[in-house]
Amino acid sequence: MSKNSVTIVDNRNGNQAEFDILDPTIGSPAIDIRKLHGELGLFTYDPGFQATASCKSDITYIDGDKGILLYRGYPIEQLAAHSNYLETSFLLMYGHLPSNVEYHEFVGIIKRHTMVHEGLKQFFNGFHHDAHPMAIMVGVVGAMSAFYHDSLDINNPRHREISAHRLLAKMPTIAAYSHRRAYGLPLLYPRNDLDFIENFMYMMFAVPSEEYKVDPIAVQAMRLIFILHADHEQNASTSTVRLASSSGANPFACISAGIASLWGPAHGGANEAVIRMLEEIKDPDEIPKYIERAKDKNDDYRLMGFGHRIYKNYDPRAKIIRQACYDLLEIMDNSNQPLFNTAKQLEKIALEDDYFLERNLYPNVDFYSGIILRALGIPLNMFTVIFAMARTAGWISQWLEMMEDKEQRIGRPRQIYTGAAPRDFVDLSKR
Ligand code: SDX
Repeated sequence: MSKNSVTIVDNRNGNQAEFDILDPTIGSPAIDIRKLHGELGLFTYDPGFQATASCKSDITYIDGDKGILLYRGYPIEQLAAHSNYLETSFLLMYGHLPSNVEYHEFVGIIKRHTMVHEGLKQFFNGFHHDAHPMAIMVGVVGAMSAFYHDSLDINNPRHREISAHRLLAKMPTIAAYSHRRAYGLPLLYPRNDLDFIENFMYMMFAVPSEEYKVDPIAVQAMRLIFILHADHEQNASTSTVRLASSSGANPFACISAGIASLWGPAHGGANEAVIRMLEEIKDPDEIPKYIERAKDKNDDYRLMGFGHRIYKNYDPRAKIIRQACYDLLEIMDNSNQPLFNTAKQLEKIALEDDYFLERNLYPNVDFYSGIILRALGIPLNMFTVIFAMARTAGWISQWLEMMEDKEQRIGRPRQIYTGAAPRDFVDLSKR
């Protein structure tokens, strides 16, 4: 019996088997249960995968108890302070910080992929004028597989890299167009003289009738938002991308599935839901009423922006974003100050309440990110679109890693069947 193993004994019949323990670089070891059903005829049951590792990954590490987040071993606090989104995207994709040459070559490649096929631009006219930009993004990103045929051989590493570059580069263009369509504004071509974030802000807000002035304060705030949202290990949308890709489906369709999963209010849709909640609360005196609703088991109301499957401590991204809110609202028009005040008051009250403390319900990244986006003039229905743009770096990196992983197979979970026992068909005349 090796010491780095567990023995499972089935007490119903005394059968037992030994299972290896797989050790990580840091974090919790895992029991390799791949032969569990073969040895003991048993499945494991873990709805929501709270204790189940779906893969091995070198990309991101989270310690929920200590509030730690690392991208390829680098603390999120250091990347937030010193990096930019494309440098962080390179790090997530290739596993190391780029050299000067690598960085400028990568920036050049991404710049040359920012335009979308003119035929794809027609799609935006087909959506209803008040379509939610996330609905547009799901549709248009999925449709990319109808245009970029030359990079769809997922077994060709070069094709995978080109598809990853195309997705990273075109998401800001698609996102901006998803917004512009609703307001009848012209779809502006990307500009290669601007950097990644400046270009997005230009395509979002510029009008042809006057020169567009880049706002360095807004760009700096968006840089932070993008870095903090770039990846987060096996969250729901990333797991969706991995599961969809495990059947060999093309990357554009799989990232579209990830966007759809991110849209849910329990996941990436929370930043939009947080602002709607804060606006509904309006007066901080109303907060106790909402706290009581969130605690009431007969009410499915939840405080948006609170709680996390992994973080049972402060989400390190929330701490960074919270400080950025303070700094930004100091220097920008503080019409959003009341919203921020309500958020801080809600946070204070919640974190003094046993219900939240006992369940380790701390503010997550979405609790404050929406206030920054609101202060930057980003429309509310674009908040999750921003999240999807930023998370594209993580989705494509996780996809590239999975496609190289020799242990990965088609994702096909089992179940505990609780339906009817076998029974014979009864003819209609006898029913
Ligand atoms: C993101 O996975 C990731 O990494 C995601 C993400 C990323 O970067 O990809 O970090 C981004 O999605 C952040 C989370 C954004 N979502 C929200 O802010 C929505 C509100 N939060 C919840 O819906 C909830 O906290 C989740 C979905 C985030 C986590 O859900 P879990 O882990 O399944 O926790 P749970 O539902 O089992 O809750 C445990 C207890 C329950 O009470 P009891 O049954 O034990 O009595 O905590 C309660 C829940 O009712 N609870 C809340 C609550 N969140 C959990 N009660 C009130 N308000 C809340 N927000």
